[in-house]
Amino acid sequence: MVDVDVSDLAPGGQKTVLWQSFPVSIQRRTPAMIAALSAPELIAQLRDPNSSVLQQPHDAVNAHRSLNADYGVFITICTHLGCIPNLRDLPNLPASGGFFCPCHGSQFDGAGRVLRDMPAPYNLPVPPMHYLSPTVIRLG
Ligand code: FES
Repeated sequence: MVDVDVSDLAPGGQKTVLWQSFPVSIQRRTPAMIAALSAPELIAQLRDPNSSVLQQPHDAVNAHRSLNADYGVFITICTHLGCIPNLRDLPNLPASGGFFCPCHGSQFDGAGRVLRDMPAPYNLPVPPMHYLSPTVIRLG
């Protein structure tokens, strides 16, 4: 278990912590980022927009892939061959946020959902987690 205080994250801010030796990205979303995750033009570009392949706990099967839409929490290990994606907005839909894998170019949206025709076969995993308070997340 790792407890993470996210009270220092301003809207749009991000931090990376280690959980069981995995890098975990935690981003505080803005209202615009949350809205962008349901935009039809984004959904049409995703391989698994509804998270039908289990890469997250059941309580994170929703448009924002998280318990609380205000925070996106993902294990940033690329589902292709295990490189570490960087935080980088999708070029054509920057409002959603996103991740870019430097090894073979896979792109993920701000909910860790992989775009179609990318080398990565699955969305980024969401770790098991719950909130100890509105600004403290327990991973594991
Ligand atoms: Fe990420 Fe290949 S390891 S695209």
